[in-house]
Amino acid sequence: MAGTEARADAVILVGGKGTRLRPLTVGTPKPMLPTAGAPFLTHLLARIRDAGLTHVVLGTSYRAEVFEEHFGDGSELGLEIDYVVESEPLGTGGAIRNIASALRHDTVMVFNGDVLGGTDLGAILDTHESAAADVTLHLVRVADPRAYGCVPTDADGRVLEFLEKTQDPPTDQINAGCYVFRREVIEAIPEGRAISVEREIFPALLERGAAVHGHVDHSYWRDMGTPADFVRGSSDLVRGIAPSPLLAGRHGEALVDESASVGGGALLYGGSVVGRGAEIGAGARLDQTVVFDGVRIGAGAVVERSIIAEGATIGPRAVIRDAVIGEGADIGARCEFIGGARVWPGVAIPDGGVRFSTDV
Ligand code: GDD
Ligand code: MG
Repeated sequence: MAGTEARADAVILVGGKGTRLRPLTVGTPKPMLPTAGAPFLTHLLARIRDAGLTHVVLGTSYRAEVFEEHFGDGSELGLEIDYVVESEPLGTGGAIRNIASALRHDTVMVFNGDVLGGTDLGAILDTHESAAADVTLHLVRVADPRAYGCVPTDADGRVLEFLEKTQDPPTDQINAGCYVFRREVIEAIPEGRAISVEREIFPALLERGAAVHGHVDHSYWRDMGTPADFVRGSSDLVRGIAPSPLLAGRHGEALVDESASVGGGALLYGGSVVGRGAEIGAGARLDQTVVFDGVRIGAGAVVERSIIAEGATIGPRAVIRDAVIGEGADIGARCEFIGGARVWPGVAIPDGGVRFSTDV
C-alpha cells in the first residue's frame, strides 16, 4: 500500500486488566508485556503499519499512562498514534464508541490488543468492501471454541449469530478479535456507559438485520490472555511460526539479548527468550521460557514453559515448569514450582522451601 492513501483508521483496545495473566499484569498492562524482545503491542503495530494503515487510536483504561510513555506519537514506528483514555473501563463496545471523535476515515479497523496473528489485514478490508457490509468480523477456527465468541455464518459469509463464551458452541468458528466497522455504526453505539461489543452490540446489530459479514482464514492465530498461550505465542514468534515484521531474519531456538550472559553448558531452546542484562547460570536448561530483563537463573536450574518476570532470581537446581514467577521474586535453590503455580512479586522462598517431590 506504500504511496497510497490509507484505507482505514486502526483502533486497538488495550484497556483490559489482564486478570488471567496476574501477577504479571499487576504493574504492566497485558499488551505491554515483553514478548520476543519487544512489548507485545509493538508486533501488532508493526503489522498494522505494514498493511498500509498509518493512523492508530489506542483505547486505554487500565494503566493508561504506560502506553503513551512508551510509544509517544508513534513516529518511531512510522505511525501516528492517538490515545483516548477511559477513566472508568467502558467495556469493549463503550471503548469503541469512546474513540469516535479521534477517527479520520469512514472505515475503521478495530483490534483486540492481545491477539497474535498472521492474517492479511488488507484482505479483511477487501471482504468488507466487496460485501458492502456494516461490520466485517475476522473469524478463525479453533479446537475448543468455548473460551471465545462463537460466530456461525451462512454460505455467503453472512453472520447468523454471535454467541460470546457459550458452553455449547454450534460451530468451531470464532471471533478472532479484529473487526471492520462503517464509522456510522460506531457513532450509533450509545455513549457514556459500559457496553460489551460481543454481548450487546453485535447481537443487537444482527437482531436489526444489519449487514454483518465474516472473513474466515487459516492464518496463524492466538489470544495471548493466559500464561500457557503467552508462553506458546512468544515461542512461536521466536521460532518464526508466528509472523512479526520485528523478527524478520532473526528466528531460531532462542532469542537472547546481547547484554545478557549465558554460562557454559546452558541449553536454551523451544523458542525461549532472555531479556536485557539477564544472567543464565552454567548448565541451566530453558525450554519454551520467557525470561524478562534483569533475571538471574542459577546453575543447573530447569525452567520449562514458564514466565520469569523482571528482576526475579531462580536459585541453583530449582525446577520451574508451567509456572509464573513475579517481578523481583527470589526462588531458593532446589525449589520446585510446577503445574500452574504463580509466585507474587517480591516473594522470597528459602532454599528447598517448596517442592513437589521429596528432597532425597
Ligand atoms: N479500552 C478498553 N476498555 N479495552 C478493554 C476493556 C475496556 O473496558 N475491556 C477489555 N478490553 C480490551 C482488552 O485489553 C483486550 O485487548 C480486548 O479488549 C479483549 O479483551 P479480553 O479480556 O482479552 O477478551 P477475551 O479474550 O476474553 O475475548 C475476546 O477476544 C476473543 C479473541 O481473542 C472476545 O472479543 C471474544 O469474542 C474473542 O473470541
Ligand atoms: Mg483476549
